[in-house]
Formats: sequence, structure tokens, C-alpha cells
Amino acid sequence: SGYWVIVPAAGVGRRMGAGRPKQYLPLLGRPLLSVTLRNILTWPGLAGVVVAISADDADFPHLPESRDARVHPVHGGAERADSVLQALNFLAEKVSADTQVLVHDAARPCVAIEDIESLLAAEAACALLARPASDTVKLAQKSGDTPARVEKTLERARIWLAQTPQRAPLAQLHSALREALERGDPVTDEASALEFAGQCPALVAGRGDNLKVTHPEDIPLAEALLRLRFA
Ligand code: C5P
Repeated sequence: SGYWVIVPAAGVGRRMGAGRPKQYLPLLGRPLLSVTLRNILTWPGLAGVVVAISADDADFPHLPESRDARVHPVHGGAERADSVLQALNFLAEKVSADTQVLVHDAARPCVAIEDIESLLAAEAACALLARPASDTVKLAQKSGDTPARVEKTLERARIWLAQTPQRAPLAQLHSALREALERGDPVTDEASALEFAGQCPALVAGRGDNLKVTHPEDIPLAEALLRLRFA
């Protein structure tokens, strides 16, 4: 028993522009992926972790967390969703169909244990950590235009920003993701795959500090949060 965590960490981190995959950028002197895994390995009730890494990743075996018996690497795919699917294929051979699976970004090292407890306690079959929007959200006429032009303003009271972890039973997430990818649906997170399958995942309000390390300026912010959290 216990739940499993999937960590997609097979990306190349183009937006970071650092010349190496962002999951290996140093955070307080340790690779981002190492910091995130060390955090996950403290979560209560954890059964195991599947980490999707790229086939030419030579750094993973050097992380101290890779030697933890609960940590299992698999090779990822072309997109984040393909990497998660590879991890789900691995789990489907290993654990029962009703096992709870939490998918968590390697790029979110600061998630707090209270947020994990809230997500695990949510009654809905499928749930994700999210934040109600504090900024007003504009929908642009089309993507890539400079300057972008506003088509309309979305109703802020209904806007939530999706974070991770995102939680679902293994079989449900596995079939939803496989079918969404087969249809070519735009899957940007696990919840979106479940939505395409007709599910309505529960939005669990998390703390404000579950930052996703995306741009270079996020690194000092994440380091400051980690110093507060793990000091
Ligand atoms: O680039 P972005 O921040 O959206 O990536 C989110 C996560 O998905 C990262 O941890 C990245 O390593 C992972 N990813 C993956 N396989 C890919 C692309 C991204 O596991 N092919």
C-alpha cells in the first residue's frame, strides 16, 4: 500500500537557456532534481518514486537519492506527457490499478508537506494543487504575436493556476493520458488528460510558495524559500 510519485525529469529546459537541462542546475549547491527528490522522500505514506530521465542522462546515477531503494528510473519521451506515460507503463506492471499516483514536477523543489497532506486528504478521486489567480488573466487573440493583443479578459474569480503534485488512481490516469496522446489532445498537465476523459479533478488550494523553477530569476527565489523551509 501507499502511493507512488512520478517525477518527469527528462526535459531539456530550453526556457532556462543554461546549456544544460534545468533539473541539474545547482540550487544551494545541489542539483535541482536532487533537492526535489530529497523533499519527496520525506512525504508520509510514500511507497516509491518513478523518475523519468532522458536516455542520454549520465548525471542521474550520481545523485545520492538515485541509490535509495524506493527510487526507480525509467526513460522519458519526447514531451512531458510522453515521459509521464512511460512512468505509468512501468507502474502498471508493478502495482495494482487502484494505486494512487502523484505526478510532481522536478522543477518544484519547494512544495511544503502541508500541501502534500491537503492533496492526499482531498476526497475527490482526482485532485491537484492549485492557486486562485491574483493577477487578472487576459486571453490573447493568438499566441506568438508581438505585441500580443487582448481578445478578452477571463473571469478572475474562476481562474486557478495549476501546480503539482496532481493525484489520480493509476488505471484512470494511465488510460486518460494514453487516449489523450493518441487523439493528439493538448495535454499540458495530468489534470488536462483527465478532463479530456470527462473527469472534473478537484482544485486543492496550496500555499503560495510552490514555485516552478522556469526562468533564471527563479533560482535565487527558490534558494531563499529552501533556506526558510529546510534551515
Ligand atoms: O519545461 P517544463 O518546465 O514544462 O517541464 C516540466 C517538467 O517536465 C520538467 O521537470 C521536465 O524535465 C519534464 N519533461 C520531461 N520530458 C520531456 C519534457 C519535459 O520529463 N520530454
